Parts: sequence; structure tokens; C-alpha cells
Amino acid sequence: MKNIYKPILPLTCFILVSCGGVPEEKSETTSIENAFSVEEVLEMVSKENDVTRTLYTKAIVGKGKKQGMKFDEDWRKDDVEAGPLPALFLRGVATSIRKNPVPLGLYLGSDFPVNAANKFEGKQADLFKQIKEDQKPQFFYDEEQKLHTAMFADLASAGACVSCHNEHPQTTKSDWKLGDVMGATTWQYPKDSLTYKETIAVLNSYAKGTVDIYMEYLDEIKAFKESEKPEIGKKWPAEGNYLPTAEVFLDSVKKLASYETMKHLVATK
Ligand code: HEC
Repeated sequence: MKNIYKPILPLTCFILVSCGGVPEEKSETTSIENAFSVEEVLEMVSKENDVTRTLYTKAIVGKGKKQGMKFDEDWRKDDVEAGPLPALFLRGVATSIRKNPVPLGLYLGSDFPVNAANKFEGKQADLFKQIKEDQKPQFFYDEEQKLHTAMFADLASAGACVSCHNEHPQTTKSDWKLGDVMGATTWQYPKDSLTYKETIAVLNSYAKGTVDIYMEYLDEIKAFKESEKPEIGKKWPAEGNYLPTAEVFLDSVKKLASYETMKHLVATK
């Protein structure tokens, strides 16, 4: 399974080749010269996250529900035969990233959260007010945590976001509308600029997080006793009672996201 998040590597080769086939020893210098600002890298990984989240929300949760698949916040409980809700999928990614040596942080928060632990505080709460007004990303240096921080708007892009949050027993706000800024994803990194190598490590750490939580979901399915198990392979829920393997899922993310990421990686040169 280790190979799954390799697809990003050809991208590295592509960049190094486009730098004029730099010899091994020199490539480190090249990397330093071509360092990205932390803002650029967090923006790249945030784009990957948008694609992953949309794909999971629409192609897995949305289409899966039509096939009778269930998604629940208590999906990990033994007596609940369901997959993770999108927000919990994201939290799973964040948990996996935390276990990774790459010092990247990810968090999904709001001013009116379903889960009180997700409420923005301090500087992030202030900046979130601005994000709600103009939907533009916010970047700042968190002095207390000594971390560069980027916040990106999380929009109510589907009817399901609105209805589930409005009707949730623990909701702190029940009049969300389509298109509202429901929250923000917060990303953190300790350094103000990154080499190519570090940038790729950040992107890989995110991709690994996706695979980890998705595999946990597939493992959960294996343990289903009552529910019909979807067939896991190359097909998607849109075609029937199917789920893609982690590899097929990640492949789609890469196809959808890597073009944008690559444009960014190359444009700064
Ligand atoms: C079926 C229910 C459901 C759907 C659909 C859903 N969410 Fe959530 N969402 C939740 C739950 C439950 C949590 C709290 C998860 C946790 O414990 O961290 C949550 C958490 C969040 C948070 C973090 C703040 C908070 O409320 O705790 C944001 C922001 C958020 N969701 C946005 C969205 C957006 C945007 C969509 C649609 C793209 C969406 N959600 C779809 C149930 C849902």
C-alpha cells in the first residue's frame, strides 16, 4: 500500500528536468533558490484539499447514499455500519498528518460549530470575521504557537451541508444558507519558506492522510455484519453498489488537483 501516494513523484522529476537536468549534488541548491513561500505551499495543499473533499462529498457520500450506503458521525462505533461524514474525513486526514514527521497542521473551524471543539478563538476568530465578508484567504504568523498560519473559506457548496448542519441536534446555528461561509480550514507550518523537497513532502503528507482515512473506511466496511458490503475495485458509487479502492480514489484526486498544483509549481520559476 506504500506506493499509493507515489504519483506525485513524477511531478518532482518534471520540475527538476525543466530546471535543465540539474545534477544530483546541485539539485539541493536549485531547490533552495526555488523555494516557495509558506503562503504558496499552504495554498497548494489547500487546493488539493478542496478537490479531495469535493470528490469525497459528491462522488462517495452523495452518490453512495443513493445506493443505500450510510455515513455517520459515529461511523467508528462497532454497532454503526457507516462511513465518515466529510468533516470527519477531513479530521481523519488531519490526525494522520499529525502522526507524520512533516510539521504541517490542519484544522476545520467555525464561529457557529456543530462540535464546540471546532470553535475559532483569538486571532483566528478575528480573521474569520474578515473571511466571512470577502471570502479571501488570510495569512498570519501565530506568535504564540510560532507557526505560519493560513485560513481558507469553507463554503456551503451543497444542500447537504446546510440541511445537516441546520438540523443537527448540537448545532449552534440553524439558518445556514447555500453559499454561506460555514467555516474555514486552517493550515499551519513552522517555516516561512520551503524547498521543492519540503513542498513535495507537504503535498505527500496530505495525500497519505487521505489514503489513511479512506483505508480506515474500507476496513470498517470489511467488519459490516448487517449491511450489504459494496464491491471495492475500480468502480464508483455512481455505477452501483461499488466503492473505489484507495488507489483509484487517490488517482482521481491527483488527476483533478495536480494540474493546478503543477501550474503553480512551474509558474513561480
Ligand atoms: C450529514 C451531516 C453533515 C454534512 C452533510 C456536512 N457536515 Fe459539516 N459537520 C457535520 C458534523 C457532525 C460536524 C462536526 C464534526 C466534528 O465532530 O468535528 C461538522 C463539522 C463541520 C465544520 C467544522 C465546524 C463545526 O461545525 O463543527 C465545518 C466548517 C463544516 N462541517 C462544514 C461543512 C460543509 C461546508 C459541508 C458541505 C460541503 C458539510 N459540512 C457537510 C455534519 C455534516
